[in-house]
Amino acid sequence: MPSPLQFSALQRLIAVLVALGSFANSLAVQTGQGNASRRRISLNKGWRFSRSETNHDGLVYDVRSDTPPRDKVHILKPWILPTANGFISDHFKHHSIPTGSAPGNVSFVQKTFNDSSWEEVDLPHDWAIKGPFYVGDGKPVMGGMGRLPIQGVAWYRRTLDISQADIDAKKTIYLDIDGAMSYSMVWLNGHLIGGWPCGYTSYRLDLTPHVQQGNRNQLAIRLDNPVQSSRWYPGAGLYRSVWLTTVQSVHVPLWGQYVSSRNISRQSATVDFRIQLKNNAKRDEEVVLETDIYELDISGRPGAKVLTSTPTVVKLNAGSTAVVNSSIVVTNPKLWGPPPTQVPNLYAALTRLTINGHTVDTYETQFGIRSLRFDPDRGLFVNGERIRIQGVNEHHDLGALGVAFNYRAAERKLEILRELGANAIRCAHNIPATEFLQLADKMGFLVTDESLDSWEYEKTPNDYHLLFGEWAEADTRAMLRRDRNHPSVIAFSVGNEVSEQTTGVSGATTAKRLCSIVREEDDLADRPCTASKNAARPEMPFASSLDIINLNYQGEGIRDTPAYEGLQGITTEPSYGEFHRVFPDKLILSSETSASLSTRGTYFFPLTREISAPVLDNKPDGGGNASIRAISDYSVYTTPFGASPDKVFAKQDAAFPYVAGEFVWSGFDYLGEPTPYYSARSSYFGIVDLAGFKKDRFWLYQSRWRPEVKMAHVLPHWSWGGDREGQVTPVHILSSADEAQLFVNGKNHGRKKKQAGEYRFRYDDVVYSPGELLVLTWKDGKEWANKTVFTVGDAYGLTLEVDRESIEGDGLDLAFVTAKVVDLDGRVVPTADNNVIFSVEGAGAEIVATDNGDPYSFVPFPSKQRKAFSGLALAIIKATAKTPGTVTVRAESQGLRGAKVEVSIM
Ligand code: GAL
Repeated sequence: MPSPLQFSALQRLIAVLVALGSFANSLAVQTGQGNASRRRISLNKGWRFSRSETNHDGLVYDVRSDTPPRDKVHILKPWILPTANGFISDHFKHHSIPTGSAPGNVSFVQKTFNDSSWEEVDLPHDWAIKGPFYVGDGKPVMGGMGRLPIQGVAWYRRTLDISQADIDAKKTIYLDIDGAMSYSMVWLNGHLIGGWPCGYTSYRLDLTPHVQQGNRNQLAIRLDNPVQSSRWYPGAGLYRSVWLTTVQSVHVPLWGQYVSSRNISRQSATVDFRIQLKNNAKRDEEVVLETDIYELDISGRPGAKVLTSTPTVVKLNAGSTAVVNSSIVVTNPKLWGPPPTQVPNLYAALTRLTINGHTVDTYETQFGIRSLRFDPDRGLFVNGERIRIQGVNEHHDLGALGVAFNYRAAERKLEILRELGANAIRCAHNIPATEFLQLADKMGFLVTDESLDSWEYEKTPNDYHLLFGEWAEADTRAMLRRDRNHPSVIAFSVGNEVSEQTTGVSGATTAKRLCSIVREEDDLADRPCTASKNAARPEMPFASSLDIINLNYQGEGIRDTPAYEGLQGITTEPSYGEFHRVFPDKLILSSETSASLSTRGTYFFPLTREISAPVLDNKPDGGGNASIRAISDYSVYTTPFGASPDKVFAKQDAAFPYVAGEFVWSGFDYLGEPTPYYSARSSYFGIVDLAGFKKDRFWLYQSRWRPEVKMAHVLPHWSWGGDREGQVTPVHILSSADEAQLFVNGKNHGRKKKQAGEYRFRYDDVVYSPGELLVLTWKDGKEWANKTVFTVGDAYGLTLEVDRESIEGDGLDLAFVTAKVVDLDGRVVPTADNNVIFSVEGAGAEIVATDNGDPYSFVPFPSKQRKAFSGLALAIIKATAKTPGTVTVRAESQGLRGAKVEVSIM
């Protein structure tokens, strides 16, 4: 039993954690109940929103190819640049704040403007995701960026309530924006306060000088999202959370607590703290600083208090800042590490500032105690255990929900990847939402946190190269300061396939400069700085600027097998060996492997006999069908520079034991980059499709990454029409077994043993006749997993499955409901494309989006009707009400028996 004292401390900590937003779905966060010294109130509710496809207000951050010319607009950049000052180390390079107010007389920023006709929205908000899609050629947003209307100028307005008590107490009032896509600029009560152009960076503005007492403080945020700014769907809007943080004059500033650990063993660990203090008051203060360490339980709630640091007294002069370094030793630490062999234990450090015995601030940071070792000959070691990186690349969109961050949607993504056997995520190619890293901490994923896809050289006309000169330092420091406490983050990447990798000394110098920022900001933990290369050779200077060698595709070889002969582009033998020779002290990994392409549940014939082949529309066995923009799901077809999983695995196993592992391109399909069919809307790269349904490749990776799972997966389906009868229809078995036997309608097709370099059982000469496929498998001579696949009957009805039977009634939580088209015996009809109509009965929930994973579907995501694709469709249900109860989700389809499933709203 805790003593009364401990209990109240625990309660206080819970209140503080809630107020700090550690519990992503907490009601207290939304209602602003926090502790007295620091309040963090969600500003996600109650915005008015208006968007124009063209520039209608005459303002710009700076002129770009898609803005009106210089003489037609007011340029506000000089008022925005000073927001970066706290992230520019050289004071001489700080931007001075222009005298006088910003030009442009825009009524939207004024209190008097009547916005009642504007749309009411809550955040996180992605204005583009509802569509409609741009279909066809010559559209403002094409396939590369997802064919959704991301472009234009948008305004968000809401009022803030500031109490007289806070003004009298001279509180400091900050606006915290977790992510705004893009070129955000913020006004309060008509004053331009600042902004941040890069849409992925979290930032803070000090509102204090311009707040007024009362509930009519007018906040106005302008975004200006360019066309041709990205190689994927960037999203649009205030797509992450916005907060109002109120603190006393003496407080810990943004990201002001840095925690790291060293000398780690099972018996003890030294935890280092670096805490920043700020005194906004006109009076010198003597501040006492103490830190309590708590264990956190699996749901992130505080458990036992582990220890309290010795109090430190700091003299803080008026208007000054200070940094306090301290260290404590934790005995028998519960280490953080990746499952399944380790447990992702977390701690919280709660730092308390007191003046004359009164608490003036409490600041909480979650952290984990773990050691990392990057061994060039043996790979990555976490807490002394070698962990092979079985990673995937992920873009930031959440499929049909767009980029509007949703905790449950991100968690579901990670759950599916965990089931796959993935233990690592590369955040390609931008800073993720904070909550994504919190989830990675909690679930034990290893993360490469990555900032940029371009530096000074452009990849698209309006991408980050326009900002690099003035913002690269600030964006890099912001990533580091925000993310360095996450135990999940094992490396920082400052770039992906930037052109500078091959520009000799100048590119290497830029890399060195960015990595020196990483080292300065992460000096306690000293995590490696890297950048991914797809073209730099070891003898070029670029790689020597980096701590570890991240290779995209070239590690295992590009176009180096006969199937790829004659294609345009570089041909590379596996380059792991050369890099290892030239950089014997640097760990090597593949930050992008495979780039396989497929459409879930779709198969074309004939199938190539190769283990890896490029998608070629003009070859009968080229794997693609340009008329329906689909690619065969046999998991052997790739981009011209890619390699099937089998080819990648074979290279890894044959020759390069020192390689630390791989990040597959990609875990999930994502919006945009629909290589090779740019008339589509979303990618073909995922192991899992955009709706979260598994493609066949899922089982190929699972068989390698989770060899203990007794599983046999068979492809293709066996429900072909009469025209396939008598035709060669190859059957592949994906299994963690080492032997397999296939029977087709009772006929034995032989027992096969996986040979070195083989990762599936291929029966490429099977002739189709309806009936049944029976697969038996063995491992180490013992029976392993069996599987039967039947020719199913006609579509008869629907079934519904929900991922969780009860969800929180917090307006945020989601239920993912899968509709399956089934035959009379309840077996999925794998070719079914019936139109499914979803509905919800009962208060408390609504359908927010539907999808089926087809990259070539242009039905807007909010539609309640969705054709099944390869037998499946998805509806995403969001809780709306706080009243507990049950809702019934129904699915109907003409001529089919309907289905329902119940979801409790807690
Ligand atoms: C890589 C690039 C990724 C993605 C991938 C698949 O070269 O880094 O962002 O484009 O190819 O095409």
